Amino acid sequence: MRRLAPVLRQDGVDTDLISLIKTILAACKEISFRVGQGELAGVLGSTLDENIQGETQKKLDVLANELLKDMILETGVVKAISSEEEDYTVAGNPEGRYLVTFDPLDGSSNTDINSLIGTIFSILPARADVDAADAAQFLQPGTAQIAAGYVLYGPSTMLALTTGKGTKLYTLDKTYGGFLLTQEEVAVPGVTAEFAINMSNQRHWQPGMQAYVADLLEGKPGPRGKNFNMRWIAAMVGDVHRVLCRGGIFMYPSDTKDPNKPNKLRLMYEANPMSFLVEQAGGLSSTGYQRIMEIEPTDIHQRVAVILGSKHEVETCLKYHQS
Ligand code: AHG
Ligand code: MN
Ligand code: MN
Repeated sequence: MRRLAPVLRQDGVDTDLISLIKTILAACKEISFRVGQGELAGVLGSTLDENIQGETQKKLDVLANELLKDMILETGVVKAISSEEEDYTVAGNPEGRYLVTFDPLDGSSNTDINSLIGTIFSILPARADVDAADAAQFLQPGTAQIAAGYVLYGPSTMLALTTGKGTKLYTLDKTYGGFLLTQEEVAVPGVTAEFAINMSNQRHWQPGMQAYVADLLEGKPGPRGKNFNMRWIAAMVGDVHRVLCRGGIFMYPSDTKDPNKPNKLRLMYEANPMSFLVEQAGGLSSTGYQRIMEIEPTDIHQRVAVILGSKHEVETCLKYHQS
């Protein structure tokens, strides 16, 4: 096992980026500690506020957001941040070379049941031609990401990180206080028999997704000729972690449940960073019609359909969308 900083330096990553990632991880360690204290730290339950997307904010959403925002902006290397829990982007140092987007707490509905939650982040290059206070800074496709990762607050606290040279997993050593490298090269198996989707939305999906999942459920006697298992953690960070560890396909497709909200997951804070991690581990990520990381964003809070995971299974799912 090796420590985080030497691993990054060996990758030839610049020192400002290393210190930025270390700062994000310092905030996540603090969040991990508070999450671990649970009710004892008075961090469970909801606030009286809603975020810009009309979702009630949990106390942990707000706490995690404040910690990340303040610590990231203090580094001085960040031009602006964009958070799922902030209505607008927040300007930092006009000379900063980086932008950071984050979902401070993914899986908020799991906080009060002591289940999996996490923090997801993405680092983009700052644009010299755009003012720090202008949200247009962030309208870059996922292919522009310099680094992305998540910290999963589970039985152990784990970090998945990519700087575009593969995906690595680290485990927080709470005695030493640092993230130690525990898997050098994550490789998502290309073939799987496990899928993750919120089945309660089935009747609202589009025909391609309906047909694909119907065939999965047919099992061995059906057109796929094998039985599939299903898992749903209700925190993308937990579901994607399982996909990185043992393969699988994770889907949050478009649906017609709420005509004003055809998609659930956010491009900047969830879909792009997770796509980067999964692709760097040999998996695929698509909306069903387009590679997620090639979407040209039009709004910092925009939402997209997500289908990601084991290469061959995602390819099979995409064929149902084309026909
Ligand atoms: P968040 O807690 O940041 O709002 O994200 C929750 C997301 C995602 O993590 C998860 O996969 C999905 O919402 C769960 O949706 P359902 O409640 O429809 O299962
Ligand atoms: Mn989320
Ligand atoms: Mn969130």
